[in-house]
Formats: sequence, structure tokens, C-alpha cells
Amino acid sequence: MLHGKLSKVPTHLAIIMDGNGRWAKARMLQRIIGHQRGVETVKRVVEECSNLGIRYLTLFAFSAENWFRPKTEVKALMLLLKHYIIAETKRMVEDNIRFQVIGNRPELPADVLHHLDEASRVTAGNSGMTLTLALSYGARQEIAAAVRRIAHEVAAGRIAPDEINDTSFAGFLDTSHMPDPDFLIRTSGEMRISNFLLWQLAYTELYFTEKNWPDFDRDELMKALVHYQSRERRFGKTSDQVKGRI
Ligand code: IPE
Ligand code: IPE
Ligand code: MG
Repeated sequence: MLHGKLSKVPTHLAIIMDGNGRWAKARMLQRIIGHQRGVETVKRVVEECSNLGIRYLTLFAFSAENWFRPKTEVKALMLLLKHYIIAETKRMVEDNIRFQVIGNRPELPADVLHHLDEASRVTAGNSGMTLTLALSYGARQEIAAAVRRIAHEVAAGRIAPDEINDTSFAGFLDTSHMPDPDFLIRTSGEMRISNFLLWQLAYTELYFTEKNWPDFDRDELMKALVHYQSRERRFGKTSDQVKGRI
């Protein structure tokens, strides 16, 4: 059983869930059917990751740039998101999952936001896996917003310019309370970051699979995680240093 092979799992796993549209197109189905199937994958992956003891799972669900898709697709995605969150909140409570959202909240429809906030509120005290949905999220926008906040702090005299460094800067990002991702998975064969967590991915191990998101099953997840175990994370040091030989 693959389970037994996992000696270490990433503390923080981030996933760019891509390929719903192509999954549907290959079956002569509408894109939205692909998104519906994608939601089923989300439910399975959340459960698997929680069972595996992953502490943080961050899913790129809707990018700042995705607003520019056809209106009908955006509407359908928001409706799917609302139904997902309404249906899953109870399960998250039961599974001790802490739910939260990163991204540009004001752009989300009010009713969706209401249910997202409700899910965050009722799961806030949970101590298991933290599930973060990146919604209306763009990393450049997040970094620009952090710079804006820091500029206000400096203007108000609460921060001295010389106090700004990589550690203090990270404290102004949406992810300030989370460790950086250890492992990033992107599905559907695309090898790009698409404006996801640009700052936080500085030392993340990257993994790409040809599978479209609706086809990303348990075996694929385990395959990726087994792969992660074989990576040596050097953070700029030499292999001997990392192994403690010198
Ligand atoms: C990912 O699947 C889901 C979202 C970006 C919302 P896509 O919709 O990007 O699927 P492809 O890339 O068109 O196949
Ligand atoms: C990235 O997928 C965003 C999400 C998975 C939510 P896209 O399908 O939007 O990315 P590009 O446009 O192909 O780079
Ligand atoms: Mg895509």
C-alpha cells in the first residue's frame, strides 16, 4: 500500500487545480461539467490530505485574472463555489478542518462571501488541517497591497523604513500566519505559476502532472507525495551540509 511509503509529508501543500475545461472538452461536455467534476476532486483531496496529516492545504480555485473569462462561466463558478461551501462547512467542522480564504475579497459576490465567512467563523477554533482557498487571488496584487499597507505604516510613523526586510514583509501578506508551501502541485501539464503565491514559493518544490484536475485521484496524489519525499531541499546550501556531513 502506498500509504506506508510516506515517511514525511509536506507541512504545507499548495495546488494549482488546472484542466477542468480540457477534461470536459475531451469528452464533448461543457466546461462547467469539468468544473463540477473538479469540485468532486477537491472534496476527495481535502479528505485525503487531512487524513495524511498535512497541516496546510492551499488550493488555487479562482484567480484575479479568471474574472476575465466569459460571464456565464464566471457566474457558474461562483454558484458552484457557493454550493460547495454550503455543503462542506458541516463536514469541515466534523473533520476538525480550519477554513479560510485568501485573495481580493471585495470582488467576490456578497452571498458567496457570506457563506465563506460563515465557514471561516465556525471552523476558526479547529485544530486540524488548515484549508485555504485562494479566490480572486493574484500574487502581484497581494504583494502590491502589502507594499501599500507598509507605506501607510511608514507614513504614520509606526514603521521605520530600515525595519523592512524579507521577514517583516512576509507579515503583511495574506499568508502571514502560515509557513511557506513545501510542495506545489500543478495539474494539466502546464508548467507555470500563473500569478500564484509568487513570494511564498521562493523555495517550494514544484511538481507537474499531465493529469487534468478532475482525473487527479488518490493514486496521483500519493505518487506526487512519494516524489516529494525524494527531494532534497537545500535552501542554497550544499548537499553535504544538508545531510549534516560538514
Ligand atoms: C481550472 O481549470 C479551474 C479554474 C481556473 C477556475 P480551467 O478552467 O483553467 O481548465 P482549462 O485550463 O481550461 O482546461
Ligand atoms: C490558474 O489556472 C488559476 C487557477 C487554477 C484557479 P488558469 O487556467 O487560469 O491559468 P492560465 O491562464 O492557464 O495560466
Ligand atoms: Mg486552465
